[in-house]
Amino acid sequence: MLKTNADLLLAAQQGGYAVGAFNTNNLEITHAIMGAAQDRRAPVIVATSAGALKYAGIGFLSQIVLTYAHQAAVPVALHLDHGPNFASCMDCIRHGYSSVMIDASKLPFDENVAATRQVVEAAHAVGVSVEAELGRLVGIEDHVVVSEREVAMTNPDEAAEFVRQTGIDALAVAIGNAHGFYKGDPQLDFDRLRAIRERVDIPLVLHGASGIPDHDIRTAISLGICKINIDTEVRDAFARAVRQFLAKHPDEIDPRPILKPTIQAMQTVVARKIELFGSAGRG
Ligand code: G3H
Ligand code: ZN
Repeated sequence: MLKTNADLLLAAQQGGYAVGAFNTNNLEITHAIMGAAQDRRAPVIVATSAGALKYAGIGFLSQIVLTYAHQAAVPVALHLDHGPNFASCMDCIRHGYSSVMIDASKLPFDENVAATRQVVEAAHAVGVSVEAELGRLVGIEDHVVVSEREVAMTNPDEAAEFVRQTGIDALAVAIGNAHGFYKGDPQLDFDRLRAIRERVDIPLVLHGASGIPDHDIRTAISLGICKINIDTEVRDAFARAVRQFLAKHPDEIDPRPILKPTIQAMQTVVARKIELFGSAGRG
């Protein structure tokens, strides 16, 4: 059944677990995400970035996910990840998205507030939930590069004011997390997360969760993280499965046998994350 992020994340906040948000670009990744969620009877957020929509076409990709959402026994949210502007958020809402992220985190505080409020007013008017980000993650998410010097972790006092002024449903925080593979062990600032939690009572979101050790994920959930974004580990499973298959079947040209093993490989990654996040059996 189709739900908003707010529906899923408020339940997660009360239940002390997190809901996985997994990025998709196509049919096979969506099969893997939904296969794992249904197998583990877990709520799930299927996320598409602006880059994914450019690649696949919003009409096609949204319908793949919504077809699943309308027939699945588990709650599913269709979410725009890192929405770059108001227009892209509205386009997704028009295509049936139940949640959008407006990512204006690269703007100064007041401009981030203004851009976010504009989306919140429109989205809430039609029952769609909104995520926004304060502070900046290092790394690359679909060609958006944030260099070390730009990174600025989330200020807990600013976070409280940001949530108050915008009325968002979920806040993405920067506490040392980064998109993509980490160079060395990630150093998450849990004191900062604890301080944010003390000032902000809406669900908190952890982006860049691929490669974060299980014990840090559990700590983050205990400190108020209710939505955890995963993309890189799923992509890595896809690429490994394709390479492995083609190494054994170099003459194969039919996409179906080439892609079929990628679905299971990605589904294994998603299922493991669902278990780790504590959302298994919560659907
Ligand atoms: O928005 C998507 C996530 O933040 C992806 O992060 O690729 O490091 O798992 P990740
Ligand atoms: Zn992200």
